Amino acid sequence: MARYNPLYLILITVLCLSCVSAQPVEQNANMHSGRHASGAIIADRQSTTYQEKAARDIVTASNTTSTDMPVPYDTLAYNFANTTSCTDFYTKWRANKTITDCHAISLLLENSNAFFHTLRSSAAITRVLETSCTQDAKKCTSIMDDLAADLLKSENCREDYHNGNSVVKGTYRDLVAYEPMYRATCLRNPVTQKYCFVDAASNSTSPDDYNIYFMPLGNSLGMGSKPTCSECLQTSMDLFSGWAKVDGQPLATTYLPSAKAINAHCGAGFATTNITVGSDAVTGAGLAIPLPRVGMVISALVALSFV
Ligand SMILES: *[C@@H]1O[C@H](CO)[C@@H](O)[C@H](O)[C@H]1NC(C)=O
Ligand SMILES: *[C@@H]1O[C@H](CO)[C@@H](O)[C@H](O)[C@H]1NC(C)=O
Ligand SMILES: *[C@@H]1O[C@H](CO)[C@@H](O)[C@H](O)[C@H]1NC(C)=O
Ligand SMILES: *[C@@H]1O[C@H](CO)[C@@H](O)[C@H](O)[C@H]1NC(C)=O
Ligand SMILES: *[C@@H]1O[C@H](CO)[C@@H](O)[C@H](O)[C@H]1NC(C)=O
Repeated sequence: MARYNPLYLILITVLCLSCVSAQPVEQNANMHSGRHASGAIIADRQSTTYQEKAARDIVTASNTTSTDMPVPYDTLAYNFANTTSCTDFYTKWRANKTITDCHAISLLLENSNAFFHTLRSSAAITRVLETSCTQDAKKCTSIMDDLAADLLKSENCREDYHNGNSVVKGTYRDLVAYEPMYRATCLRNPVTQKYCFVDAASNSTSPDDYNIYFMPLGNSLGMGSKPTCSECLQTSMDLFSGWAKVDGQPLATTYLPSAKAINAHCGAGFATTNITVGSDAVTGAGLAIPLPRVGMVISALVALSFV
């Protein structure tokens, strides 16, 4: 099936030393959050996803209390081709405290039922971010990149990855997007000191405010999007523009179309479009990770391929 682009991405860590203000956030084009009549914030696409998953998968674990931190893949029953190796790999890393202690938002955003539920409460989201954002980003980036490389090893999930398994491909993409997502979700509104992400996720009148966070995961904002033209948005886009230059980051594909859509709404020059996407080859020392083509990641998401 889909083959990954044989581009090699070297650590985002290395890059981040030079692109201090580059953080991409990625948006799912179809994701909409809004406030329900009950007052609960909902994310339509995600609830659809979970309904679909519920129909398809056996719920394996979903017993967290409100004080627990959400974990990724909390309701997913894996169905990998090489069941033993890939499933074992997921079981192993999900139980590894060094990894889970990073509380990677990039892994939680689309893959955690518990995280989805925290979106109902600003206090709950804030608590999750407070934990996630106090982790050592540099160390966690390195952990996530190592995990991404391990994921693709033949003794782990390589076969499933090559077979286009959407879970494996999604995990890989989420791991690569760890740092841009960390930077973006940890931004605070300079006036209120609240997390920009919390304002965005709880804004019932402006679902696109939340959608911008799916850009680093491979989803562009479409023309006609109407995010709030705030300082939070501008700062986030500034971050993303830096990561968009990084070869292999999903933002290299999603940033420019999104920036154009945002500028159509917020005004020319609100987000820079004067960048060369993917121009910063990740070369030199460090880990080389073959990155999937973002377009294929998106289609894999759409055509969920677990049996
Ligand atoms: C959650 O786990 C606790 C302790 O493990 C248990 O007492 C409780 O019944 C569980 N709740 C649900 C809804 O499964
Ligand atoms: C499945 O994983 C095992 C290691 O657990 C490996 O030896 C085997 O070659 C893999 N099978 C395929 C078809 O990739
Ligand atoms: C947990 O993950 C860390 C970081 O990748 C790794 O160094 C360590 O060996 C892992 N521990 C186990 C028990 O697998
Ligand atoms: C919510 O969105 C509306 C419409 O874009 C905007 O006017 C308002 O400032 C936003 N609220 C917050 C807290 O961001
Ligand atoms: C675009 O960026 C380049 C390099 O940063 C700069 O030299 C050029 O003046 C910029 N162009 C515009 C229109 O801002």
